[in-house]
Amino acid sequence: MKVLTRTILSLLFLAVAETWAQYASPLEGEDFDVVEALLNNGVNVLEIPTLASLATRSNSTNACSIACSSLRFLFGSSNVNVQGSPGYDSFTSLYWSVQQEEVEPYCIFKPSKNLDVSTVVLLSRLTQCPFAVKSGGHAAFAGSSSIQGGITVALENLKGLTLSSDKRSASIEPGNLWYDVYTKLESHNLTVIGGRVAGIGVGGLTLGGGISFFSNQYGWTCDNIQSFEVVTASGIIVTASPTNYPDLYWALRGGGNNFGIVTKFNLKTISQGLMWGGSRIHLEDQFPAVINAFYNLGVNSAQDTAAAQITSFAYTQNTRLASADLQYAKPIANASIFSEYLAIPSLQDTTKVRSLADLTVQFNSSNPDGLRETYWAMTFKLDKDLVSYVKDVFYDELAAITDAEGLVAAATMQVITVPQLQNMVKNGGNALGLSASSGPLLLVNPNMMWTNIADDTRILKANSNLVKRTVAEANTRGLAVDYIYMNYASQFQAVVPSYGASNQARLKAVAKKYDPVGVFQTLQPGYFKLDGAPDPNMP
Ligand SMILES: Cc1cc2nc3c(=O)[nH]c(=O)nc-3n(C[C@H](O)[C@H](O)[C@H](O)COP(=O)(O)OP(=O)(O)OC[C@H]3O[C@@H](n4cnc5c(N)ncnc54)[C@H](O)[C@@H]3O)c2cc1C
Ligand SMILES: *[C@@H]1O[C@H](CO)[C@@H](O)[C@H](O)[C@H]1NC(C)=O
Ligand SMILES: *[C@@H]1O[C@H](CO)[C@@H](O)[C@H](O)[C@H]1NC(C)=O
Ligand SMILES: *[C@@H]1O[C@H](CO)[C@@H](O)[C@H](O)[C@H]1NC(C)=O
Ligand SMILES: *[C@@H]1O[C@H](CO)[C@@H](O)[C@H](O)[C@H]1NC(C)=O
Repeated sequence: MKVLTRTILSLLFLAVAETWAQYASPLEGEDFDVVEALLNNGVNVLEIPTLASLATRSNSTNACSIACSSLRFLFGSSNVNVQGSPGYDSFTSLYWSVQQEEVEPYCIFKPSKNLDVSTVVLLSRLTQCPFAVKSGGHAAFAGSSSIQGGITVALENLKGLTLSSDKRSASIEPGNLWYDVYTKLESHNLTVIGGRVAGIGVGGLTLGGGISFFSNQYGWTCDNIQSFEVVTASGIIVTASPTNYPDLYWALRGGGNNFGIVTKFNLKTISQGLMWGGSRIHLEDQFPAVINAFYNLGVNSAQDTAAAQITSFAYTQNTRLASADLQYAKPIANASIFSEYLAIPSLQDTTKVRSLADLTVQFNSSNPDGLRETYWAMTFKLDKDLVSYVKDVFYDELAAITDAEGLVAAATMQVITVPQLQNMVKNGGNALGLSASSGPLLLVNPNMMWTNIADDTRILKANSNLVKRTVAEANTRGLAVDYIYMNYASQFQAVVPSYGASNQARLKAVAKKYDPVGVFQTLQPGYFKLDGAPDPNMP
C-alpha cells in the first residue's frame, strides 16, 4: 500500500518537483523524511535497484557504492564518474594542489541544475555516504573540495551567467572560474568584485570572503553579493538576501561551506574598462624601500581607492626577491599614489594598461597546478616593523628547507584597508568579525610549493614555526588580531573561532536552524567547520 502510494505520489510530484524544492520552507521538523523529500524532487527511491535493497548503512564503502550507483541510475554515467572510468583520472588531476589530486572519491557527480544538487544532498542523507563540493578546486589541503571514498560534487557544469535587465547585477553559477566571469562581462564594460587569478573558482573565494583588485573601493566579494541561491540540508532551494532569510545571508558572507551548497551568486556589477597593473621585481637590497612603500600605501589607501597592492617576499632558485604586484582600477599608468614604489629600481616590470582578464592570466601563470602546496593566514594591526619581522623570520625558517626539491616560497603581504573594512557593514554586515576602527590590518599569507612528498613534514613545520613566532611577537608588541582569513588558512588553523565568540555562536545558531541534524558538518566533513581546525595536530 505504502509502495503504491509512493509510486503515485512520485508521478504527481515529478511535474512540480522544481516548484516544490524552491518554494517549500527550508526549516525541517523532527518528522523530516528523506525518502519523501526525494519524492518531492521527482526521485522515487523504490525505483532505484540498489536503493530498494538498501540493507545496511553501517558500511561506508557499501553506502557510497549504493549512493553512486543510484546517481548513475538517475543521471547517467556521463554525469557520474567512478574509479576506473574515463573521466575519473582526468577529473582528479584538475585540482590546483597535488594533495587534493591524491584524494580518491568513490564517485564524482556533475550536477546540471540546482535540483540535481538538492537530490545528491538527500541521497547522501539517505545512504549516509559523505560528500565534498568543488567549485574552482583551489583550496590547497586534501579533502577541502574532495573526499576519500565519498561523492565529490563537481559544480563545473553549472556555468550559467546572466545579467539582470538593468545590468546592475549578474547571476553567476559556481561552475564559473573568475576568468570566465570577467570575459563574459567585459563586452558590456562591466565586471564584478571577484578573484585576481584566472583559474580560481567563484564558489570557494566568495564564501570565504574574497579580495579583488577593486576591493579598496567596493569591499570584498562577500560584501557585494545581493543574494545567494542555496540548496539547504533538507534539499529545499532558497534565495537568501538582506530581506529573505537574512540570517542565512549573513552566515554565507564568510561562513564557508557550513550552511548549504550555493547554486547562484547574485553579484552587484560595476562599470569597468581597462585598468593598469603588473608585477615589479626587486632584489634584497631594495627590501627596506619596498617595506616603506607597502606600509605607506596601506596607510594612505583611502586617498585613492583605485589603488591596490600585493607584495611578496619570496625565495626561488636560490634567490631572495620581492615582488610588488600593483594594480590601478583606471587605465592610467604610474598613478601618483604609487610614486614611492615606482621610484624603487626594479629587475623586471610587467605593469601596463590592460584588461582585468589579461591581468588575471598573468597572475595565473605564476601559480601553476600540479605541485604540492601549503597556504597559511595571519592578521595583525598594520605595522612597518612587524612587516620587516615577518620577512626576517620567513627567511630564517626557510633556511631549514631550501634544499627541498622545486621549492618556491613566499610570505605574501596585503593590507585590509580601512575602505575595505568600511564596506563590510553593507547589508547587515558579514560574519568575519572585523571592524573599520581596528584598521588598517596586515594580512600575511605564507605560501609554498614543492614537488616531493617526503618534504611535506618539514615544510609544514617551517610554516607553523613562522606563524607561531610571528603571532607571539605581535602579542608582545600589542599588534595581535584574532582573525584568520579562511581562503588562505591551513588545515591546522581554527578559522571560524577566529571570527570572535559571538559570531561563532551566531553561525552555529544559523547552522542549527537550517541544518538541525548537521548534514554540512558530518556528511560534508572537509574544510573549515564551525569548531576548531580541520586537523588539530599543528606541526
Ligand atoms: C593561486 C591562487 C590565487 C588566489 N587568489 C585569491 C584572490 O585574489 N582573492 C582571494 O580572496 N583569494 C584568493 N585565493 C584563495 C582562494 O579564494 C581560495 O583558495 C578559495 O577556496 C578558492 O575557491 P575555489 O572555488 O577555487 O576552491 P574549491 O577548492 O573548489 O572550494 C573551496 C571550499 O569552498 C567550498 N565551496 C565551493 N563552492 C561552493 C558552493 N557553491 N557552495 C558551497 N560550498 C562551496 C568547497 O566545498 C570547499 O570547501 C587564491 C588562491 C590561490 C591558490
Ligand atoms: C563493505 O561493502 C563493500 C561493498 O559492498 C564490500 O566489498 C566490503 O567487504 C564491505 N566491508 C565490510 C567491512 O563489511
Ligand atoms: C565599452 O567601452 C568602450 C570604450 O569606452 C566603448 O567604445 C564601447 O562602445 C563600450 N561598449 C559598450 C557595450 O558599452
Ligand atoms: C611609467 O613608468 C615606467 C617606469 O617605471 C616607464 O617606463 C613608463 O614609460 C611610464 N609610463 C607612463 C605612461 O608614464
Ligand atoms: C590557469 O592555470 C591553469 C593551471 O596551470 C591552467 O590549466 C589554465 O588554463 C589557466 N587559465 C588561464 C585562463 O590562463
